[in-house]
Amino acid sequence: MSKNNDRLISPIERQGDDALDLSLRPKTLGEYIGQEKIKENLGITIAAAKKRGEPIEHVLLYGAPGLGKTTLAHVIANEIGANIRVTSGPAIEKSGDLAAILTNLEEGDILFIDEIHRLNKTVEEILYPAMEDYALDIIMGKGPTARTLRLDLPKFTIIGATTLASLLSSPLRDRFGVTHHLNFYETNDVEKIIKRSAGILGVAMDGDAQQEIAKRSRRTPRIANRLLKRVRDYCEVKGDGRVSLKDSWDAFRMLEVDELGLDLIDRRILETIIDKFKGGPVGLNTLAASTGEEMDTIENIYEPYLMQLGFLDRSPRGRIVTTLGYRHLGLPEPETGKLL
Ligand SMILES: Nc1ncnc2c1ncn2[C@@H]1O[C@H](COP(=O)(O)OP(=O)(O)OP(=O)(O)O)[C@@H](O)[C@H]1O
Ligand SMILES: [Mg+2]
Repeated sequence: MSKNNDRLISPIERQGDDALDLSLRPKTLGEYIGQEKIKENLGITIAAAKKRGEPIEHVLLYGAPGLGKTTLAHVIANEIGANIRVTSGPAIEKSGDLAAILTNLEEGDILFIDEIHRLNKTVEEILYPAMEDYALDIIMGKGPTARTLRLDLPKFTIIGATTLASLLSSPLRDRFGVTHHLNFYETNDVEKIIKRSAGILGVAMDGDAQQEIAKRSRRTPRIANRLLKRVRDYCEVKGDGRVSLKDSWDAFRMLEVDELGLDLIDRRILETIIDKFKGGPVGLNTLAASTGEEMDTIENIYEPYLMQLGFLDRSPRGRIVTTLGYRHLGLPEPETGKLL
């Protein structure tokens, strides 16, 4: 596993998350917190399909890691009362693998394809007629005598998940009848998720401690659940088991996660730009070399959240720490003219 994914506040699934995910995963639309617009739309899609007695249209879910795409796919299956088969883009290596999966589906089944953007081209092409016409085209023989045999497939639904819709080829994207973009959660929704999870895990905690965890969760349910678990562990060892606001502060001090969910590396990136490059602009490769992180990691893992908070800006000449970034670190802002 990559270094950045060892971080407590990484949104990417880490070792040990599985069991937690399973027990905390909402099973119905009612239990699924936040994402109101999506729930409302899906509720209608599901009710309409049920009324017609047909499978729902193919659904594409996209959004950052840990926001609940896999969870939502299972919720949809559960609400419809359909079987769900789970696979992923990288797991389907050959077109024969996909053909085998498809021919084993039954009417109304849901096929969940995680990381659907990672399907290879030949496999993807099998999917087009399958999604559009519920048909599987098999090529028999080779060369001039080759024939195509068309097999009918049962009517089924594909739910695809990906982090960015733009990673999908447009022919694939166009074959989804319904597309939903999962956004980062409102902090009060994250609080509700923590409250619900605490209930399931049997953790007694004060409301203000819940709020404190929510603030540090980067608006991401997976991180919220992970932080909850770590704070609980801390309080079981150090305290009486009940999580108070003070306990959560102590736990986060030990875990080195600050009040906005930044960890040491996030802060080091900001501090490096400030200390070594007078707040920027500094090019990505120079920044990578001076922080000891990889360019790709900085760009895709650290920067998005720092930029979302408004602490970091990208300019054509490089990365710049903003006034807000200075303030967050409690550092004096430099003379005007340098800042955005
Ligand atoms: N809306 C929600 N309400 C309550 N809990 C949620 C919600 N969304 C996600 N969770 C919790 O967060 C965990 C992570 O969600 P999930 O695995 O569905 O994310 P994902 O978007 O599929 O992530 P990845 O991109 O890494 O596959 C779930 O196990 C679940 O416990
Ligand atoms: Mg997932």
